[in-house]
Formats: sequence, structure tokens, C-alpha cells
Amino acid sequence: MEKLWGGRFEGKSEAWIDAFGASIPFDHQLAQQDITGSLAHVKMLAKTGILTETEAEQIIFGLNSIKDKLAAGILTFTIENEDIHLNIEKHLHDEIGPVAGKLHTGRSRNDQVATDMHLYLKETVQEVIKKIQLFRQVLLQKAEENIDTIMPGYTHLQHAQPISFAHHMMAYYGMLTRDQERFNESLKRIDISPLGCAALAGTTFPIDRAYSAELLGFSSIYENSLDGVSDRDFILEFLSDSSILMMHLSRLCEEIILWCSYEFQFIELTDTFSTGSSIMPQKKNPDMAELIRGKSGRVYGNLFSLLTVLKGLPLAYNKDLQEDKEGMFDTSHTILTSLDIMAGMIESMTLNKDIMENATEKDFSNATELADYLANKGLPFRQAHEIVGKLVLECTKKGIYLQDISLEEYQEITPLIEADIYQTLASKTAIERRHSFGGTGFDQVKAAIERGKATLKEE
Ligand code: ARG
Repeated sequence: MEKLWGGRFEGKSEAWIDAFGASIPFDHQLAQQDITGSLAHVKMLAKTGILTETEAEQIIFGLNSIKDKLAAGILTFTIENEDIHLNIEKHLHDEIGPVAGKLHTGRSRNDQVATDMHLYLKETVQEVIKKIQLFRQVLLQKAEENIDTIMPGYTHLQHAQPISFAHHMMAYYGMLTRDQERFNESLKRIDISPLGCAALAGTTFPIDRAYSAELLGFSSIYENSLDGVSDRDFILEFLSDSSILMMHLSRLCEEIILWCSYEFQFIELTDTFSTGSSIMPQKKNPDMAELIRGKSGRVYGNLFSLLTVLKGLPLAYNKDLQEDKEGMFDTSHTILTSLDIMAGMIESMTLNKDIMENATEKDFSNATELADYLANKGLPFRQAHEIVGKLVLECTKKGIYLQDISLEEYQEITPLIEADIYQTLASKTAIERRHSFGGTGFDQVKAAIERGKATLKEE
């Protein structure tokens, strides 16, 4: 088949080599953006008088009918036409004849592909932001329903101090808010038009880059044509923001997996988000959470592949840059679905509140309370820490807890300890008294939820 760039060539191409060079198996996902970019380009060519109005109208007509076919799912692509740009141009020729050849005036596939990628990511990032917002909403709601749900807070995965489950949810709310901010800030660097940078050096045609950028809704244009066609920072940034997002989702998934284990039994996932085993009839596995934890690996991988592809690339366009696409598409699909799954999974999970609270009764997560109690009565904190540490050691030997020690025994150790100690040792009191800003105190958590609601409302 005749190549659109075939003029200079004498030898025949070979199908298997063509297939290696083709990007159409994946960049067909840019079809819509490619047509949008071409429509803006041709309108600019007419406005600047580079093409006549009639020529432009014919091309616009052709592009619109390709767009309709795409929407109807009847647009076909072939490997012979290499990539999305050449496939669409071929269709344009079929639709309107030789005038189709004028569309590529003052443009190269190099600025064309970069434009498509900018358009694609701008849409994707806006969608990601909406999904993060929905997930933050779910986290807030789960928090609000569980302000007085008590659970052990952990450090080193060891019981540390009791906390409110809402506080735990709000920690993730904070992470996701930062993720959203990061994606939002990245838009500034995505929202730039490379169209008109041409192959690398600009063009001799009197094009109007600002006009095509405006038609495409871009806020600014690349100031250097070499930079415009070779920049993939905006994709790296997307992959990096996505990696951080996936890391957060993965941490929550890890906790979910632990919480629904037999040992914890803190939560139960609905059947929709679980799967069974083909051999063990009793199994209900948290597959979706495990998959999201696993998929964080491929998103990190996509970031590292592109970093590696770009390292050492001379300016301007090199075919290596075609390798920017699969990781970007894969990451977009992965994070968008992961966010949907997370929202559904958290929203529908049920909590075994009694088990969670009981886990804070049969443990030493109130040891800090006793130390603080003594410090409040004037004992230097270090000394208080030492006394309580010894008590914990004795208790573990006897198989009892701090709340099981009698008042007489306590007073033998130090008369500073009085009858109110038992109230102090209760996990509810431990939480209640943590009034410091951002702490787990019920009042603090309520305030954090209110702040969260106000922020979401403002966005
Ligand atoms: N399919 C190519 C890519 O994705 C389009 C740009 C081709 N440019 C070129 N000079 N061969 O990067």
C-alpha cells in the first residue's frame, strides 16, 4: 500500500516491520482528540488565509463525517496506516479527495501527536479530579457515621493508642485532598498548546498559534518549538501524581485486607467486592483491594518506563517518544477504575464496632494515659514512663491489664494514683481527652469533618 510519506522511498515495506513501528493498536484511543486538533488547525489555516474558505469547509465537512463514524463505532483503522494521525488522514482522503492533502499544511505529526496527548490528559485529569472528589465524599461520610467508633491506633502494627475510626478515615481524606491538589496543579502544565511547533523548527506559513490554541481551549502555547514537540514532562507528572495516588489507595487496601482477616475481623466487605475460592468453600477474599494494591506496581512501572525512555533523548522528536502512550493510557484506565472501586468498597463495607472497641480493652493502648496521669500530678514524664513500663511488664507476666490492677496495689506504687484512674484508663476517655488540634479527640474529629465538608462544598 502507498504510504502517505512514501515519495522518497523505492523499496517495499514489510508487514512485520510496519507492525513493529505502528502505534495504531493503542493510539486509536486518541482518535477524538486527533480530529478535534485537526478541526482547530484547519480553522486557523482558513483564518490566516493559508487555505481558502472553500477548502477549509470541505476539510471540516470531511473531519465531521469521520467524527460521526467514530461516534457510531464504524471507523476502521489499519496497521498499514501506522498511527492515528495517518489513519484519519487516509479516511479524510476517502471522504473528500485530494483537498484532504492540504490539512497538513504548516503542521507535522510531531506537534500533532503532542497536541493530542495534551488534549487527552487535560480531559483525563479533570475526570480523575471528579472521581477523587467523589471518593473524598465517601470517606467523609464513613467518618461522620463513625465518630464514636473506637479502634486501636497502630504504630509498627502494634497497638499504640485508641483512636476514633473517623480519624483514620479522615487521614485518608487528607491524602486524597493532596492528590487532588497535585492533579489540579499539573493542569497548568498540561494546558499548553504545542500545535504549530511543526516538526521542530516552526513553519514558513503565516500560522496563528494563539488562535488554534484558543479554539482548543488551551490557556497558553509553548514558547519554543523544539521544547513543544519534545516535552513529555506533563505525562511524567501525570504518572508521578498517579503513582502517589495509587500508593495511598494501596495503603488503605492493605489495611482493608488486614481488617477483614480472621485475626482482625474489624470489617466486612460486601459480596460485590469479594470473591470466593474454587477449592475452599469458606473463602471470601478481598480480591478488589488486593488488585488495587497490586496495580500500584504497574503505575509505578509506567512512571519508570517513561523516565527511562526520556533519559538521554536528544532534541527534538525521536520515535522513542511513541513509547509514551501505552503507559499513559494504562495509568488513566487503572486509576479511574481504582477510584470507582475504592469508593464503592468503602461505602458498602460494614464495621464490627464491638470487635474494634474490644480490641482496645484487652491491651495496653492505655499505657500512655497512665503515664500522662502521673505527669499531670507533677511526676517528670520520663519517670512516669518508667513506672508504667514496669507495670506493663508485671501485668504481661500475670496475664492482666492496667485496668485490672486494684487501687490498693496502685497506691502502693505511688499515692498519686487515685480512684479516678479507671475512668482515665478507658479508651473512650483516652480519645475524648485528646483535644489537641488535629488529634483524635471526638471534638477534633467532628471539627475536621466539618472543615472537610466545607472544603468540598467550595470546590
Ligand atoms: N505515532 C507517532 C508517535 O506516537 C506520531 C509521531 C510520528 N512522527 C514522526 N516523525 N515519525 O510518536
